[in-house]
Amino acid sequence: MAEHKNEAAVQEKITDHERLRLIFSYVTNISEEKDLNNLLLLMADLGKQLIQADRCSLWLLDEENRELWTIVAHGVDELRIPYGTGFVGHAIEHNQSIIIKDAYEDDRFNADVDKQTGYRTRSILVIPIHDSNDEIIGAYQAVNKMTEDSFFTKEDEGYLELAASYSGKAIESAILYNEIERTQKEIIFRMGEIGESRSQETANHVKRVAEYSRILAIALGMSEEEADLLKMASPMHDIGKVGIPDSILNKPGKLTDEEFKRMQRHTEDGYHLLKDSPREILQTAAVIAHEHHEKWNGRGYPRGIAGEEIHIFGRITAIADVFDALASDRVYKAAWPVEKIMKIFKEERGEHFDPKLVDLFFEHLDEILAIKDAYADHFD
Ligand code: C2E
Ligand code: SIN
Ligand code: SIN
Ligand code: SIN
Ligand code: FE
Ligand code: FE
Repeated sequence: MAEHKNEAAVQEKITDHERLRLIFSYVTNISEEKDLNNLLLLMADLGKQLIQADRCSLWLLDEENRELWTIVAHGVDELRIPYGTGFVGHAIEHNQSIIIKDAYEDDRFNADVDKQTGYRTRSILVIPIHDSNDEIIGAYQAVNKMTEDSFFTKEDEGYLELAASYSGKAIESAILYNEIERTQKEIIFRMGEIGESRSQETANHVKRVAEYSRILAIALGMSEEEADLLKMASPMHDIGKVGIPDSILNKPGKLTDEEFKRMQRHTEDGYHLLKDSPREILQTAAVIAHEHHEKWNGRGYPRGIAGEEIHIFGRITAIADVFDALASDRVYKAAWPVEKIMKIFKEERGEHFDPKLVDLFFEHLDEILAIKDAYADHFD
């Protein structure tokens, strides 16, 4: 089976003219690609065709975790190896290209990846990649030359270097963009935690609500992008609780009418806190903060809007939040068994909640309960 993959047909050598065409056809796409994973895949493709390798991958340094990582295909997880291992690690450590005819005859070879994938590596070419400050940021690795000679040459090294230098800027900005995006997501998530942590609700509440919301969004037929947007924004639904005094927020018993009125203001407070940001995630979070306590029948707060007047994200977060509130211990109540919650959901179908969302909730109950278990609270 594994050997099969290696028995791909021997290729005719491509001409210089074809190489030039290839580079031109990739350069625009590469320079415009902002998504780091997509960029790595594009570059892997270009490298593979350019020097007629069976496989090609672009490895990047992850300084924080002292690892090298790559993406091998769309939708496949990252591959990671420790710093300094294998040819890739060696090329990066010594800032030096490596050309090998048979990997197994070289003791720098890390055969673990072959063992994991059942692939048989023979010839290898690795070149280090630098950023504009000439710092090494990773390496280009090609495996198994597919022409008659079956090994890589100095010429191939030159072509790969050319591709790498064309792409250096694009990689640099994609790394930066990726970092900014991850930072944004983390800040947003931590903001959500603040909203909840003061009321003794754990970070897990925020995670669960985010995951339940995403499941419902997908079930409703939304795109992955839209569902991810909701998932990122929904953790902030209670951010407006930051302004609520502890005496109300952590009151072990039932709130007085006045206290509950104060509590209800967390919807408007959250909305005003977030609404002026031009960022899509925060805009979305503003709407969710505002509308997550509205009810389908119009008897919610703060505005008492009804049905589809309530943004779909608000309707989804409402059902996710109430499920989680009921399924968890709170200072003012013990967790309910799931059957009791489902009974309430049936009663509230078309009252508190969008009827379609209640139906989808029941249809996807297995997935939802799996999340509930995976992110269960553990109190001492
Ligand atoms: P939360 O604890 O996150 O609850 C979110 C929503 O879940 C509640 O919105 C309500 O719709 C539902 N929910 C939670 N517990 C129960 C319950 O025991 N029975 C029923 N039928 N529904 C429940 P709601 O009511 O607008 O409350 C908003 C927030 O106000 C709550 O967020 C909580 O922080 C606070 N709160 C509400 N009631 C009390 C209370 O009696 N004591 C205290 N200390 N806080 C309360
Ligand atoms: C190595 O460079 O030996 C590890 C990476 C790989 O084989 O794909
Ligand atoms: C949707 O995005 O699927 C529907 C939008 C809406 O109902 O607000
Ligand atoms: C409550 O806080 O007990 C009322 C919430 C609901 O109507 O489901
Ligand atoms: Fe709330
Ligand atoms: Fe909540």
